[in-house]
Amino acid sequence: MPDVKAIYYFRPDTHTTPAEAARAIAEEETTGTWTRLTTRQDYIQALDGEVLEVEPSGSGYVTTIRYPAEIFEPGNVPQYLSVVAGNLFGLGRLDAVRLLDVEFPETLTDFRGPNFGIEGVRHLIGSRDRPHVGTIIKPKVGLSPDDTALVAYQAASGGVDFIKDDETLTDQAFCPMEERVEAVMGRLDEARDETGRMVLYAVNVSDRTDRIVERAERAIERGANTIMVDVITCGFSALQALSEAPSISVPIHVHRTMHGAMTRNPEHGIAMRPIARLVRMMGGDQLHTGTVSGKMGHNTEELLGDNAVLTQPYFGFREVFPVASGGLHPGKVHAELATLGTDIVLQAGGGIHGHPEGTAAGARAMRQAVDAFLEGVSAEEYAEDHVELRHAISLWGAE
Ligand code: 3PG
Ligand code: 3PG
Ligand code: MG
Repeated sequence: MPDVKAIYYFRPDTHTTPAEAARAIAEEETTGTWTRLTTRQDYIQALDGEVLEVEPSGSGYVTTIRYPAEIFEPGNVPQYLSVVAGNLFGLGRLDAVRLLDVEFPETLTDFRGPNFGIEGVRHLIGSRDRPHVGTIIKPKVGLSPDDTALVAYQAASGGVDFIKDDETLTDQAFCPMEERVEAVMGRLDEARDETGRMVLYAVNVSDRTDRIVERAERAIERGANTIMVDVITCGFSALQALSEAPSISVPIHVHRTMHGAMTRNPEHGIAMRPIARLVRMMGGDQLHTGTVSGKMGHNTEELLGDNAVLTQPYFGFREVFPVASGGLHPGKVHAELATLGTDIVLQAGGGIHGHPEGTAAGARAMRQAVDAFLEGVSAEEYAEDHVELRHAISLWGAE
């Protein structure tokens, strides 16, 4: 049976050789521990982890470890993670260790994957191959349901395809979810009557695992046409529960807040790559993977690889729409699209609601910047006869 292969970067402590350190990971995560066991039986040998290779890399080493498929319980992702991303991070013999990627055999990937994916989301929006423009209602918290809805209406009138809650907004007293959804969807219907275009609104349903599906159902009953989940704080199983629930008939937008605690240190933690794979397996339709020019730290080469994991053929799963968000504005659109391509959702919060003439003008400026790119014209040149883009660039500049 094909097995699981996990790739780690690591740096051993001064008393441990690279080979010993890699073996410590393989043993800890399978049949071994820090000493020989009197309870070991010969027949469990088939379940031993195996170090396939150890190569120098940067100031440490990269190792590939084979974990026999039989030690995994098919379909149980929390258990998969306890093996490939478990105790090893705390082993004293390693000064640093980072899970770079993981390869699962087909027998362990019997999941449904995205229900919509890029194609399904594009179908709802009616777009072919252009990038989607999205916004996050800002201020991220504090607005009442009616004021949230007004901002949504203005963004929709200005031409965004997609609107989402911030990751920190759920069902607080100042903006109860059900009231918010009704107010926003009412306003989006108005905008549709005026523009002929329906916008997707992703309601953040992040909550305790035992309540999340019910919360999403309530949002959908009130008219939500997309839901959003904070996958790291809620867990991969929460995403799976949502994507597999027959009552959840809308796309799922996946935010990765808290990922930086795992992904940011290049020597320790978990890279975005395995997180992206799991989100695809668990059924996310859109996933934040970062920007090349925004406000969050990034590594362009890794980002391109992460987006490829979302969009290249993978066990027959639908493609996930990569989302670039965090500190974007019209002047950054060119740099993003030139590097990331046009199968991308570009989101701007501050870069739309901070426009000097307000949200609708900010949304128009983002769309103009996208049009400029698609027409092969620089943002500055396009801005000469597009006033909203001109004002955005004079405030924030263009790259
Ligand atoms: C935000 O919430 O500001 C960002 O979108 C988070 O960054 P990320 O998209 O890189 O996760
Ligand atoms: C998000 O949730 O993706 C963001 O809050 C992005 O916000 P910004 O465009 O204002 O950085
Ligand atoms: Mg945010």
